[in-house]
Amino acid sequence: MVKPFIIGTRNAKDMIHLGAEILREGGSAMDAVEAAVNAVEDNPLDGGVGVGGTPNLLGVTQLDASIMDGRNRRSGAVAGLENVAHAISVARKVLELTPHDLLVGPGAEMFARAVGIEKSDLSTERTRKIAAAMRAGSPEGILEDEKEKERFLRMWLEEGRGEWYEKISKADWGTVNIMAMDANGDMCVGVSTSGLGYKLPGRVGDSPYIGAGNYCDNRFGSAACTGKGELAIRLSSARMIVSYLENGLTLRGAVRKALKDVHSLQDGTISCLVFDGEGNTMSGSMTGESIHYYMDVDSEGPEERKGVWVKP
Ligand code: GLY
Repeated sequence: MVKPFIIGTRNAKDMIHLGAEILREGGSAMDAVEAAVNAVEDNPLDGGVGVGGTPNLLGVTQLDASIMDGRNRRSGAVAGLENVAHAISVARKVLELTPHDLLVGPGAEMFARAVGIEKSDLSTERTRKIAAAMRAGSPEGILEDEKEKERFLRMWLEEGRGEWYEKISKADWGTVNIMAMDANGDMCVGVSTSGLGYKLPGRVGDSPYIGAGNYCDNRFGSAACTGKGELAIRLSSARMIVSYLENGLTLRGAVRKALKDVHSLQDGTISCLVFDGEGNTMSGSMTGESIHYYMDVDSEGPEERKGVWVKP
């Protein structure tokens, strides 16, 4: 039998122990994933998830999140959610309490209140500075690199060009992927993000799309993505990775095939995190060294594991 375990992206390194403790006490993969993702969402220093998430073009932080249950492939997701830090918990309530898979915008926020999830202030000093600059259209009082970002924004707004998007998006991605397998062999994957920094209001990335940013099936494995969500949406990357496992590829082979396909678009990059039914784990990057963090019920701390760098 596979020892219950939890894995996560770099920004989850210091949070997955919360999930490991739940697994150690016999808790479910879903409880473990939610607790660890909540801790990342609460971390104001993580500029890509929950509190402190980079705002959109209007200076507002909008969150996307999803969670999937590998036992029955049921899922819940939210997109464009404002004023709630624990987007993954709202996604879980969508899964558990509604016949739907995805709630968006004001409807998602109203639903969060209805199920008792408190309103929170997502802003930090950093995001307030960005928001002020966005609203005023003035770089006054903000960092040099913010001036540069604004220049790209203006270029795009005035000329209808997307050059700024490529440049600022290199620095302003941030998504957490956390996934676990519990003592019953049940799998769960959770994804939470504020998405692309300075995105157009209402822009939704791959994180709340089941099949793009998130997929899990107890029979084969679990996968999640970070990076330029538009690409994972177009290629259904998380679903494809699990499908490759189903069709006999190794973890490394599945990651390589999925990321090679993204290279073929020549439009940016994603990264991915994956495990299989035997508890083997893997991650993949298209731009450099790939690492992820692992803990099982006997671990004393997070173990750094190397993934695969998939070149074009
Ligand atoms: N992968 C996160 C996003 O595109 O929003």
